[in-house]
Amino acid sequence: MAARRISGFISRSLSSSIASPGRTCNLRSEIQRFSTAAALQEPITPPVRINYSQLLIDGKFVDAASGKTFPAFDPRTGEVIANVAEGDAEDINRAVSAARKAFDEGPWPKMTAYERSCVLLRFADLVEKHNDELAALESWNNGKTYEQAAKSEVPMLARLFRYYAGWADKIHGLTVPADGPYHVQTLHEPIGVAGQIIPWNFPLLMFAWKVGPALACGNTIVLKSAEQTPLTALYAAKLLLEAGLPPGVLNVVSGFGPTAGAALASHMDVDKIAFTGSTETGKIVQELAAKSNLKAVTLELGGKSPFIVCEDADIDKAVELAHFALFFNQGQCCCAGSRTFVHERVHEEFLEKSKARALRRTVGDPFQKGIEQGPQIDSEQFEKILRYIKSGVESNATLECGGDRFGSKGFYVQPTVFSNVKDDMLIAKDEIFGPVQSILKFKEIDEVIKRANATRYGLAAGVFTQNLDTANRLSRALRAGTVWVNCFDVFDAAIPFGGYKMSGIGREKGIYSLHNYLQVKAVVTALKNPAWL
Ligand code: NAI
Ligand code: MG
Repeated sequence: MAARRISGFISRSLSSSIASPGRTCNLRSEIQRFSTAAALQEPITPPVRINYSQLLIDGKFVDAASGKTFPAFDPRTGEVIANVAEGDAEDINRAVSAARKAFDEGPWPKMTAYERSCVLLRFADLVEKHNDELAALESWNNGKTYEQAAKSEVPMLARLFRYYAGWADKIHGLTVPADGPYHVQTLHEPIGVAGQIIPWNFPLLMFAWKVGPALACGNTIVLKSAEQTPLTALYAAKLLLEAGLPPGVLNVVSGFGPTAGAALASHMDVDKIAFTGSTETGKIVQELAAKSNLKAVTLELGGKSPFIVCEDADIDKAVELAHFALFFNQGQCCCAGSRTFVHERVHEEFLEKSKARALRRTVGDPFQKGIEQGPQIDSEQFEKILRYIKSGVESNATLECGGDRFGSKGFYVQPTVFSNVKDDMLIAKDEIFGPVQSILKFKEIDEVIKRANATRYGLAAGVFTQNLDTANRLSRALRAGTVWVNCFDVFDAAIPFGGYKMSGIGREKGIYSLHNYLQVKAVVTALKNPAWL
């Protein structure tokens, strides 16, 4: 209760500061004072129990072969909330054998597509039934707000599975009109055993993006969750078993990247690997795949996405969406709009309003209602973000607000805004993956196109203008896998997502993701009588 009153007070005081901008400095110290008070509050007890912390192999929860465990943390405090079985190469071997057997001997690929679709639909129903437990577990282990998990991400998990359940019995090939006395058809077959390595920023959504299409196409899976967030994948996998998924079809191995992850990427009996995470690790995964059995690879990697505000944009809407584009999920989004380019004529107004919005952002316990920002995932990310903030200050960008940790416990970072950011500064080039907005000024459309594209990444872009020709020009010129026009972070099961350049290979979601999990077989049958042509 006390924590709620404090955060309510902060947002009320800050709203009044916006009406009288001269008070901003005082309010900065108020934030500091209250953030310390907020950090002294006892964290709210999450309404869920941790029931699954072993590995899931061949339909059973088992300990790691080594017997080792590793801690899962609560990012609000840095305290351990569970000890989780730590899989490594031997457990990956066991899981791949189970997945191989379930693929080669059935029953999964041998069930009718309709039967597979029914399992996915039943799973979606169970996700809805357990929405609040899944959301609480996700929030507890990740630090994202409970509201975001409960109202958006867990429902999206169900939505994605229903979408792919719909595809399961609509996957079919072509009849091909080839020359000669031949009947030619293509069969779209599952690839086999899919290895999937997911990150910690959206554990359940990444589970959905990968497991949904792979199962719909009839593959079997070994999934390695991120070491920071092993809990919800185990819970979701348990619900899939309850929905009727046969043993061995989905195996979940918790563990670390260089051990379990690398063993999966280099396994000779894995037919395909899908990875989401950093560009650096993506390169390793592709190399391991190439050096082992040349398994097919899809990668969804980092970004430094431009968010372009033209002079004719609806400024209030652009400010709010630029704020959302960067700060959503504590800034831990691969597609975060992390280079906010603003036309010089509207720059001053945009900057003042963006700063006021950042100061109004409510930071605190993610289980508390009305909180917009929880802690970062762990001390490593927390330190990394603070290092980038320091580098921004040292390179003479203007620190408009924030710039420090929030409170004294856990991994909270103050919402931070930099102006006067130049293209060659580290904060404008690297993926910070935290609540740090960088505002850059531009003059001409041609200039901003060049600057927006001058990055090794190409994941997403945002364009704010009321001029249709400018919108069309920018959306065609920007080298990115998604361009949002007058909106941002619009995700839907049917909309493909993925990167140009070093932001990745392939697309996830929508019809495009099916291609990642299917082989195309051409069957050419000689016709006995050429006249039948
Ligand atoms: P990471 O890319 O190292 O980890 C992601 C996943 O890959 C985890 O499951 C991890 O265990 C696994 N992994 C790590 N090393 C591996 C290896 N040698 N072989 C196989 N799998 C391996 O990302 P990390 O270290 O958690 O975060 C570092 C940075 O990556 C972040 O600061 C952020 O910039 C970026 N990142 C991007 C994400 C995205 O959504 N594109 C998600 C998470 C992080
Ligand atoms: Mg790493």
